[in-house]
Amino acid sequence: MTKQTNGYFTEENSIDVVINSMSDECEPRLKEVISVIVRKLHEAVKEIEPTQDEWMNAILFLTKTGHKTDDWRQEFILLSDVLGVSMLVDAINSRRPNGASENTVLGPFHLEDVPSLEMGANISLDGKGEPMFVSGRILDVEGRPISGAKIDIWQANEDGFYDVQQKGIQPDFNLRGVFTTGDDGRYFFKSAKPKYYPIPDDGPVGALLAALGRHPYRPAHFHYIIQKKGFQTLTTHLFDPDDAYIHSDAVFGVKESLMAEFKRIDNAQKITEHGFNQPYYEVVYDFVLARSR
Ligand code: BEZ
Ligand code: FE
Repeated sequence: MTKQTNGYFTEENSIDVVINSMSDECEPRLKEVISVIVRKLHEAVKEIEPTQDEWMNAILFLTKTGHKTDDWRQEFILLSDVLGVSMLVDAINSRRPNGASENTVLGPFHLEDVPSLEMGANISLDGKGEPMFVSGRILDVEGRPISGAKIDIWQANEDGFYDVQQKGIQPDFNLRGVFTTGDDGRYFFKSAKPKYYPIPDDGPVGALLAALGRHPYRPAHFHYIIQKKGFQTLTTHLFDPDDAYIHSDAVFGVKESLMAEFKRIDNAQKITEHGFNQPYYEVVYDFVLARSR
């Protein structure tokens, strides 16, 4: 029979009894992680003192979160997002030197195998929405241009939907594209002005937000993943600082350094030069990559 190292379970010794039940042969990192989680969880339960009904509600909430999850919908990641845990894990894993661009959450709408486009292409395949011209440079921390950087971009449309949420309404790969920088490190593309949108809120996480008096909206943004061998991959967004939800992102993804100016251009000559037939929005933003650790 296995011995009860710290005696039998009591309210007072609960943490030690559970932690000491792990074998000495247990993989050290697993033991460390489970020990911390058990300690913090028991501390929380001791502070909250849940009734049996409250504890069952918590179990049912997690059960619903699991049932809502499938190959396409990841309700546990959404839960981690709205509790700020995704951003915290991201911050811990993307500490960068001063001057390097900051990371933010990846989100669920990134696609692999998006077509590579000529620099300058228009990623708005249906031509809907207010036109945009987005440009900038990919630099190292010394300010030198990075050539051959792969820039993967995706965004929501003028109604706040990604192509994958509107199959048959938006063309496949609408508002997505992969670009590669040349020797000058420059990137530029045409697009349509994105709109704020709610994170998927028809599941238990949406119900939790409502119960907490929180809205499910994310401010308008462009997603970027920028990769170049020898540099840390940058997974980030550019945000519209004038968006109604810029100060209350449901997933805490906004960072001050990631707000770009969305400048309305109504100068007729510039409109023609860029091949538009109406005023457009201009965003100019340089990204700075940190070297690989
Ligand atoms: C997104 O920006 O695509 C996103 C991020 C977190 C949760 C839902 C959506
Ligand atoms: Fe997004």
